[in-house]
Amino acid sequence: MSKPPTDLRRRDLLAQSFALAMIVACAGPEKEPPSPVDDTGEPSGDDSGGDDTSGDDTSGETETGDETGDSATETGGETGGETGGETAEPEATCEGASEPLPSTCESTSGDGEGPYYRTDYPERVNLNVLEEAGDELLVDGRLLDERCKPVVGATVDLWHATPKGIYDMSGDYHCSGRAITDSQGGFCFRTLRPPPYSNGMGGFLAAHLHWNVLISGEKRLTTQTYFADDPELDATTKPADLVATVEPISEGLGRVRIEFVLRPR
Ligand SMILES: [Fe+2]
Repeated sequence: MSKPPTDLRRRDLLAQSFALAMIVACAGPEKEPPSPVDDTGEPSGDDSGGDDTSGDDTSGETETGDETGDSATETGGETGGETGGETAEPEATCEGASEPLPSTCESTSGDGEGPYYRTDYPERVNLNVLEEAGDELLVDGRLLDERCKPVVGATVDLWHATPKGIYDMSGDYHCSGRAITDSQGGFCFRTLRPPPYSNGMGGFLAAHLHWNVLISGEKRLTTQTYFADDPELDATTKPADLVATVEPISEGLGRVRIEFVLRPR
């Protein structure tokens, strides 16, 4: 009679021990994976980590970096390319009347108007209306009177041959335009450098810019500007004050400074 209870107790004890062992055995493996999984799960981090973690973070950075890098590269490339040509642009803007006023002034020599002048050029700075390829030229100018005082509000018309050596007589007036002098007498244009063109007799005319200056609709100066480095220019045949030096700014871009002095009336 006393055996059965002991057996029962043993069975109970065995059963309890087995149950405990099972719990421990089950609890152990359950807990362990989580940590590796947490660590390794972060490999999900690897996945996510790559995409999430680094994805969220790095990826963000990477993408941004990539994008930025790309766009920076592209921008650099594009901007570099265009800006190179135009880099100069932000830096090389029209300056108008940027030089100190001279102390003495002699009126500017006149020169022929030629047959291509029109009276209705639009007021604008960029004269490369058709976005034609060619060497660009910044033309910075100032208009003074014989006392070296700035002449304000005068009309300055500029027209010249295109890189093909022709005058655009269409309504576009490519390579032609008008400026109104500012409070310093300044005016400026961005255009294409004209080439020498045929004189119709087997020779060439030296490259030149045509000008008319008007005040209240009255022509006060008609003249031309030539370029000192033009091989077609015979400087001995032109007044020295009409020959300008082209200052190189960058590849394909130069600047000329023009100063006109009106004759006293
Ligand atoms: Fe001409």
